[in-house]
Amino acid sequence: MSLDAVQANISLNHLEIESRDPKRLAEFYSNVMDMKINRLTNQKFLCEGPGRKIIIKTGKNNTLGYAGMVCKNEENLERYKEFLKINKCEINDFVSEFYQSGSFSLQDPDNNMICLGVQKKENNFYTKSIHAPLQHLTFASKDVERFQNFYQRKLGFQVTDRVIKSTGELATCFTTSNHEHHTIACFKSSQNGMDHHSYEAGEWNNIKTWCDHFAQNNVKLMWGPGRHGPGNNLFVFIEDIDGNWIEISAELETVIGRPPKNWPQEERTLNLWGKAIRRS
Ligand SMILES: [Fe+2]
Repeated sequence: MSLDAVQANISLNHLEIESRDPKRLAEFYSNVMDMKINRLTNQKFLCEGPGRKIIIKTGKNNTLGYAGMVCKNEENLERYKEFLKINKCEINDFVSEFYQSGSFSLQDPDNNMICLGVQKKENNFYTKSIHAPLQHLTFASKDVERFQNFYQRKLGFQVTDRVIKSTGELATCFTTSNHEHHTIACFKSSQNGMDHHSYEAGEWNNIKTWCDHFAQNNVKLMWGPGRHGPGNNLFVFIEDIDGNWIEISAELETVIGRPPKNWPQEERTLNLWGKAIRRS
């Protein structure tokens, strides 16, 4: 029997990001995001910490290569694949050193590549790093309605919250593939691409540790600390040297089967504590 994304319990595992200068960006992630750096090829670097993995390869700045999502086991992956086939999703084989055999990829309507597989066994070689596994990815899109239709209807993600403009247009859509409030979300924007990616530090005290670590690396917060309305999570944001936005989050809501809530597009929705950064 097929499983939708939430039933299959899919989570975000790693990202591949492009950069004109991948070595320099990898050094930033190594220092600032407390990761170990590995050169995979001349054009590709792997930055890795406990529960977080960013692959940086030569390409255009601020461009996602792919979002790497994982199922806990092969049975769930197979049953989710069945769900995608029933929904007539176009699936392509995807071979990666990070996945066991059987991994595959698909493209969303904005041509973002989503890859799915079962993770190869990891050796926890780097456990002293500050806690914050990679948790969600947020896209920018000219068409959030289309994003919602695709992720909800075709991929079987659960819509947890929406932000609605005063005109009735959809400004933001939060979707999940497990019980975390969102694993992939989307903000209305004048262009398609990445909005930000986020690491879940779990608790407030870890955010403090991260902020002290950023200060040691001479990196200023660009937004926060604050608390989002949807997801109710505490947050701080920094920017990497390519201008990609990075979020450290804590206390993200756990959602088990509640209906989606619509929020008005106002400052308090984006930040209950203070200023908002509006995308559109
Ligand atoms: Fe976020």
